[in-house]
Amino acid sequence: MELTKECFYCTQNNSVFMDYPLNEAIFGLESNFPRCLIHYQFRCDQCLGESHFNGISWCNSCKNFTCVRCESERIVWTDFFVNSYYYEIKCPNCDAWNPTLDYSEFMMEHPFQLGVIIPQSPVNVWIQFSSDYLEKQPSLEFNERRGFHELSKFTGYKDSSFSVPNVLNPVQNWSEIAKDWDNNFDVEGDFHHKNLILPHVLDLITDSDGVVLDVGCGNGNLARILSKSGRKVIGIDPSDMILFAIEKEQIKPLGITYFQETIQEFLQRSQSDFKHIVLNMMIMDVEDLRSLAESLGKLTIGGGEVIISLLHPCFDVSTKTTIKFPQDSQHNEDKVFIVDNYFKEEKSWIKFNISETKTVHFHRTLSTYVNILSENGLLIDKMVEPVPKDSLYKTDPRETFLDYDRIPLFLILRCKKISSNFP
Ligand SMILES: C[S@@+](CC[C@H](N)C(=O)[O-])C[C@H]1O[C@@H](n2cnc3c(N)ncnc32)[C@H](O)[C@@H]1O
Ligand SMILES: [Zn+2]
Ligand SMILES: [Zn+2]
Ligand SMILES: [Zn+2]
Repeated sequence: MELTKECFYCTQNNSVFMDYPLNEAIFGLESNFPRCLIHYQFRCDQCLGESHFNGISWCNSCKNFTCVRCESERIVWTDFFVNSYYYEIKCPNCDAWNPTLDYSEFMMEHPFQLGVIIPQSPVNVWIQFSSDYLEKQPSLEFNERRGFHELSKFTGYKDSSFSVPNVLNPVQNWSEIAKDWDNNFDVEGDFHHKNLILPHVLDLITDSDGVVLDVGCGNGNLARILSKSGRKVIGIDPSDMILFAIEKEQIKPLGITYFQETIQEFLQRSQSDFKHIVLNMMIMDVEDLRSLAESLGKLTIGGGEVIISLLHPCFDVSTKTTIKFPQDSQHNEDKVFIVDNYFKEEKSWIKFNISETKTVHFHRTLSTYVNILSENGLLIDKMVEPVPKDSLYKTDPRETFLDYDRIPLFLILRCKKISSNFP
């Protein structure tokens, strides 16, 4: 038995206008967007190709259809049905700009409504505004299916290129956020540090001899973990984050040495023979990656290693959008991630829910990281894209299930320094 389906667009329009007739779909029955005759395709009189009804216009003076592929179009921003814009297409005969059929239907000027074209099969045509005008509101589900332009209105979407104030300064931001950050951390860090990042960072440090240099050590949580496992640790960080590390060291000394400075400043007066250097979740905060990598190359002894954890440059880019169908679902299986503008290396920001201060980050492609590191003698010999441990599904199901096991939001690299006198 064949089930009948209502047209996707009729249903959309009916969500705004109660008197909008719901037509049975006759096209796209197997898809998510079954469509009726009026909401399917029309043939362009110029190229004779078929076009989606929102990409073709009717000229009622010349009695012809023109598609958006054949003539120039311009965009008109206006709210109608559940849309926020339509196109106008220039008629090649009379040069008039005619709206695409989605808008002409709204204006009661669709050729079916005007009666100038008789549909080849019966279709209920919407014929007048009723008193129910705008009594219904479009439901969220409809908006969610309306492409990337609509997605940009969602809160999860960030177009960082226009949202980053120039005053953002990575070190200053970390100084401002330091107290809240420190308060929010328990001994092992937050959920991500504890479950997805630090276990791998610790795993990748090969042997137990030699000092570990923790670059961008923040409040010193990794430094303390390393120190408690018997390592000698030096922590450096230019922001006031390090004051919390120093304070903890004063209260309960573990023998960790801290310096409030950048890696570049540290390099000026340090010996360059580190066997182990760690950069935990800090490399995206540094604007001058070349200078950082150069310093790392110089500070590492030949055969030594640099371990770097970062926001995954392919999946956790600043323009990543998270959407849910429907948006208010609390199930991760209803969620999709959309990554766009991967190649746009740009500044962006993150606002952690612990503070009003935003922290600034720099998105770069994976190849930029790999190439700049290797130009400084640091060759990647191991990569980890963390997946949650089974036990995490029990303790933190909503955080974990069908979420961190779908795409990696973190990346952990181990680089080996190829020779002592490189570059
Ligand atoms: C996200 S925090 C990470 C802190 C710590 N590693 C952790 O995982 O908790 C990034 C840190 O990098 C530091 N940082 C930024 N630029 C730096 C540079 N050029 N040299 C050293 N540290 C830097 C910031 O001050 C900040 O404390
Ligand atoms: Zn329809
Ligand atoms: Zn055409
Ligand atoms: Zn015309």
